[in-house]
Amino acid sequence: MVDHKYAWVRIADVENIPVGENEVREISAGHKKICLARRDGKLYAFAHKCPHAGGYLSEGHIDNFGNIVCPVHRYKYNIKNGYNSSGEGYYLITYPVEEREDGIYIGFAQSGWLNLFRK
Ligand code: FES
Repeated sequence: MVDHKYAWVRIADVENIPVGENEVREISAGHKKICLARRDGKLYAFAHKCPHAGGYLSEGHIDNFGNIVCPVHRYKYNIKNGYNSSGEGYYLITYPVEEREDGIYIGFAQSGWLNLFRK
């Protein structure tokens, strides 16, 4: 069965993943800019701008607890679920990542009323 919850965008070959361990990079997924990070060998995708004041998260770093630390005011967000672990009450949008045989895919939630009629 096809999963209509997400529109999947292929971003790279499996052999050519554009981010190293504990790195974060801004990449294009279709027409959208996102951040891609890798931690403990797993890939994570999230919004490229900080929800606080728009800092570019690719200029931040990943701390020892798996948070992306914004370079502007140092707010922290868990890269797995977007939780604002430094406690200011913001939320970072995250995207599912799938490593398939034919490449790395990022899932973007499908919006719109058509989804109401899909099973
Ligand atoms: S812009 Fe990211 S913490 Fe303020």
